[in-house]
Amino acid sequence: MNQTSFSILRLLDDGKFHSGVSIAKKLQCSRATISNSLKHIDTFGVDIAKLSGRGYRWCNPILWLNSDSILESSTVNSKYFDLKLFDTLDSTNDFLLNHFESRLTNNDYIPVVATELQTNGRGRLGRTWHTGLGDSLTFSLRWRFEQSVSALSGLSLVIGIAIIRVFKSLSINNVNLKWPNDILFDYHKLAGVLIELRGEILGPSFAVIGMGINFNLSEIVKSAIDQKATDLSVITGECLNRNFVFGALLSELRNILISFGNYGFAYFKKEWTSYHAYEGQTIYLTLPNGSVIEGTVDGVNDNGSICLRTTTGKYSYSVGDISIRLK
Ligand code: BTN
Repeated sequence: MNQTSFSILRLLDDGKFHSGVSIAKKLQCSRATISNSLKHIDTFGVDIAKLSGRGYRWCNPILWLNSDSILESSTVNSKYFDLKLFDTLDSTNDFLLNHFESRLTNNDYIPVVATELQTNGRGRLGRTWHTGLGDSLTFSLRWRFEQSVSALSGLSLVIGIAIIRVFKSLSINNVNLKWPNDILFDYHKLAGVLIELRGEILGPSFAVIGMGINFNLSEIVKSAIDQKATDLSVITGECLNRNFVFGALLSELRNILISFGNYGFAYFKKEWTSYHAYEGQTIYLTLPNGSVIEGTVDGVNDNGSICLRTTTGKYSYSVGDISIRLK
């Protein structure tokens, strides 16, 4: 999608028919440019109807991200957030990693970046994170810790707690976590977290914390996802306002990151375990070397490592390519 595609969609977001002539006039471009800019737009989950004599209609218009609405929905003073919104980015994590001014970063003015369309979204373990235009909340923020990177184990688990807390505040209940940081509803993936750390051996360190929350995935996007996925519209039966959820998340994230920096993961351990979808269940854990451990989940430790009771004893696992499956 190019900038003209976005300009056209902004004209069509009333859900009414607009003739090609009127769009071309408003955007001062040719009708061929309009037609080209809308070509293959369905691959991004955008459903445009074209009727001869009537023009174009956007059948599933989105409510665009809006800085004022987002910051008004946050209970924390907006002066704390340096919020940037984009129509399209390859990856919001990449944006923050590539625009990295560590000297200037402190948590009094938190860099936050969100995009309507993420074209190269990255998931954990080298996976792709699939979304369409405006069907998700895809954003990243950067946070500074005085500690070294090695002291930040458990951070990704804590972000899952922030997401669950916000859902609960919106009466979206029965959302669970899957270790380390998948957000599930009924064992279907609702949201994911990707954390990338940079820093000095003795600190400080910086975390780019990226989140993708599914709001209203189109069939074409769903079909690209290689696991059981769900979204908030399926769960609630409503089309939730992303700005509102985003604002609420920003305040919760700031609060939880301050507490995590001060007290570490141990402070959150009990709450995290209460949300774990697999607590007490027998699971398989695949380690980076490919070996598979069978065990019963017995909480997490103070570092956020998962504890398993196996036939040979109780062990904790923290690193590598870990996957969990129901037995
Ligand atoms: C996962 O569950 O594998 C993590 C998914 C994280 C996706 C988000 S979307 C915003 C941010 N930018 C990215 O490229 N990835 C994260």
